Amino acid sequence: MAKDPIHLENRESLARRQMSPTAGRNSKPIAGILKDILPQNAKVLEIASGTGEHAVAMCNTRPDILWQSSDPDARSRLSQDAWRTTCPKQIYPSLDIDTTKLEWWGGFSSFDVIFCANMIHIAPWSAALGLAKGASQLLSENGLAILYGPFLEGAKTAESNLKFDLNLKARNPLWGVRSLDSVKHMFADVGFNLRARYEMPKENRILIFSRP
Ligand SMILES: C[S@@+](CC[C@H](N)C(=O)[O-])C[C@H]1O[C@@H](n2cnc3c(N)ncnc32)[C@H](O)[C@@H]1O
Repeated sequence: MAKDPIHLENRESLARRQMSPTAGRNSKPIAGILKDILPQNAKVLEIASGTGEHAVAMCNTRPDILWQSSDPDARSRLSQDAWRTTCPKQIYPSLDIDTTKLEWWGGFSSFDVIFCANMIHIAPWSAALGLAKGASQLLSENGLAILYGPFLEGAKTAESNLKFDLNLKARNPLWGVRSLDSVKHMFADVGFNLRARYEMPKENRILIFSRP
């Protein structure tokens, strides 16, 4: 049977639009918190955007913001650009950003917010260090660095996050759920303090860092 070119086009763009069950589950609760936190007309840089679903959820919730997606993975960038078509005025074409690269922030103008979900545990610690350093270089004076994901919180750490940490380390010894203290110290070293911490579903946290 002859293929309908319009249908084929739709299928192509649907095929590029990846859907992550985790991002699908998380994006609404995250947007529910961030909608009251992002400054008016905020220019947001998202690091490790993955499928691109967070950008869409956030831009649907806050039509005033602008969102720059990014990811070092080419397939993820294709997906982000496919999702972008639902909010083309708010979401910019995705960029190839890898926070382990030396001075990855070079050439950018400033942002009001840097948002990164579920990356620092599934990349070497150098990726987290690069993220924090980039935030200090790129964020405006009142800018916010926002992390989402699981964290080790000493004796209060959820059993599920301890198991997840072991699982990550078995897959790659450079990965692992990061301790809240080490993340706080990392940001303090570049001039940022933890301003707020939100408890999210499935023992995840939103951490908001800003300059004092
Ligand atoms: C578990 S996925 C999370 C995706 C998305 N943020 C979410 O919450 O659904 C991790 C993402 O981190 C990206 N990533 C891995 N190492 C990175 C690095 N060094 N710099 C930036 N992104 C990185 C991967 O390409 C992947 O898209």
